[in-house]
Amino acid sequence: MTTASRFEGKTVIVTGAASGIGRAALIRLVSEGAIALAVDLNEAGLAETQAAATSAACHGGRISVTVASISDEADVKRAVADFVEREGKLDVLVNMAGILRSTHTQETTLEQFMLLIQVNLVGTFLFCREALPHLLETKGNIVNASSTSVEYGHPYMAAYSASKGAVAAMTHSLAWEYMRRGVRVNAVAPGGIVTPLVIATPAGFPEGVDRSLFLHMTPPDQKFGMPDNVAGVIAMLASSDGAHINGEIIRIDGGVHS
Ligand SMILES: NC(=O)c1ccc[n+]([C@@H]2O[C@H](COP(=O)([O-])OP(=O)(O)OC[C@H]3O[C@@H](n4cnc5c(N)ncnc54)[C@H](O)[C@@H]3O)[C@@H](O)[C@H]2O)c1
Repeated sequence: MTTASRFEGKTVIVTGAASGIGRAALIRLVSEGAIALAVDLNEAGLAETQAAATSAACHGGRISVTVASISDEADVKRAVADFVEREGKLDVLVNMAGILRSTHTQETTLEQFMLLIQVNLVGTFLFCREALPHLLETKGNIVNASSTSVEYGHPYMAAYSASKGAVAAMTHSLAWEYMRRGVRVNAVAPGGIVTPLVIATPAGFPEGVDRSLFLHMTPPDQKFGMPDNVAGVIAMLASSDGAHINGEIIRIDGGVHS
């Protein structure tokens, strides 16, 4: 746990906050003083995050929650507008909500492909778009979720990798577009972080996968990362410690893809 107070008086929205990296990031930010909105589809998970964040809260930090789908335009508009109306401003957006599905590419239906794009890419875009007018006022910043699958081939994940590559590209575009107006946009690219998304992945593999293709994604010492390993980097990027970092995608995988 940290004693830092980098987010005292700062208002933040964290999507995907009912689980894994989003939950760890939200708890970390609230422990450093953030006034946070947790967004997720999973109401029970949000309640667990709320309890954990409330007991970790320091320096005036507090949490509210809202059930919303990041890929539903009306939900996203409502979540951002209600939070800003209540708290008066928005300083930080952390876009961690996402899904992973694996399929043989030659058998992937258009619906399966578009689901990954709709959640991981369109959902991230919608939150960025709705947050940007408010972030321009506070000279705030965004942290998106990319993935090591973008630069290093992860088999049976073509739609997932494409969606995360597009998030990385959008991060670079937004960083350049808003740089002169004081808004920073960065991303984390986690790999092998122990969360429900990763734990569920082997069970979700389709029949007949060639498991030897996964060797280059597996830590040689089986040392996987934890959500807190990513949360600390998100907090750094979103805080004044990241003030001179913009348009950066930070790989957090313990060196597996080095
Ligand atoms: N865990 C890893 O190793 C890893 C690697 C690369 C990228 N990532 C990315 O990091 C982010 C967080 O992943 P995680 O591992 O913590 O996964 P997770 O499954 O633990 O958390 C993802 C959260 O997103 C929520 N979510 C999914 N669809 C949503 C929607 N339409 N609207 C609102 N919420 C929705 C889920 O309910 C869940 O709470 C994801 O974007 C993921 O792609 C994770």
